[in-house]
Amino acid sequence: MHIDILSLFPKMLEGFFTNSIMARAVEKGVVSYRITDWRSYATDRHHSCDDVPYGGGAGMVLKCEPLSKALEDLDARNRRVVFPTPSGRLFTQAYAQELSREKDLIFICGHYEGLDQRVIDTYVDDEISIGDYVLSCGETSTTVIIDALFRLIDGVISSDSLQDESFSDGLLEYPQYTRPESYCTKSVPDVLLSGHHERIATWRDFRMLEKTMLSRPEVLVRASLDQDRRRRLIELIERTKG
Ligand code: ADE
Repeated sequence: MHIDILSLFPKMLEGFFTNSIMARAVEKGVVSYRITDWRSYATDRHHSCDDVPYGGGAGMVLKCEPLSKALEDLDARNRRVVFPTPSGRLFTQAYAQELSREKDLIFICGHYEGLDQRVIDTYVDDEISIGDYVLSCGETSTTVIIDALFRLIDGVISSDSLQDESFSDGLLEYPQYTRPESYCTKSVPDVLLSGHHERIATWRDFRMLEKTMLSRPEVLVRASLDQDRRRRLIELIERTKG
């Protein structure tokens, strides 16, 4: 996958692409990226990219130009363009999966009060919100979205790691433990040391249901639960009551 990012603060993004799993994906050639500082397209003396809003109000709005010139140079009309914004469609694991199947994406990192609507209307395909809160800059939400999608591309991480994690089958993940067996008077649950795969799987399923029920009950309502899980859930509810 190739990713183009348009940003006024490119240094905020560099560390993300040059560390950890993303750095390895870039090295392997699974992901390529280019960060463009669109201020370089501004032709006025102050290289300004924003201006006051028509109709009044607080803050500044990112102007049509120079951003549109940068987008034209990237052939954005023929590519999928993502604009992270608090007023976009809510980002989910399913949305990340859909984007991970693309070969080519452009991200626009917004700032201030947002973008002139005409740029959005002309170039943007996806306006995405990463949650019901407002961040100071689009670089943060852009890296969140890219992080969620690039790890789903074949060859980035093992398919085993993807299989058991939160949301992959509609529930939150079970708790994990590693060595040592005893830490600050707390021990690893006996079942995980038993070597009994079926009992471990049942224990993990109970913990997933319990975690989802306590932290995100609305996720549980949407999840498809087979008969075993429904029985386990009833058992858990009975235990919490008692
Ligand atoms: N930019 C600022 N806040 C945001 C949010 N919640 N989601 C996506 N982009 C944003």
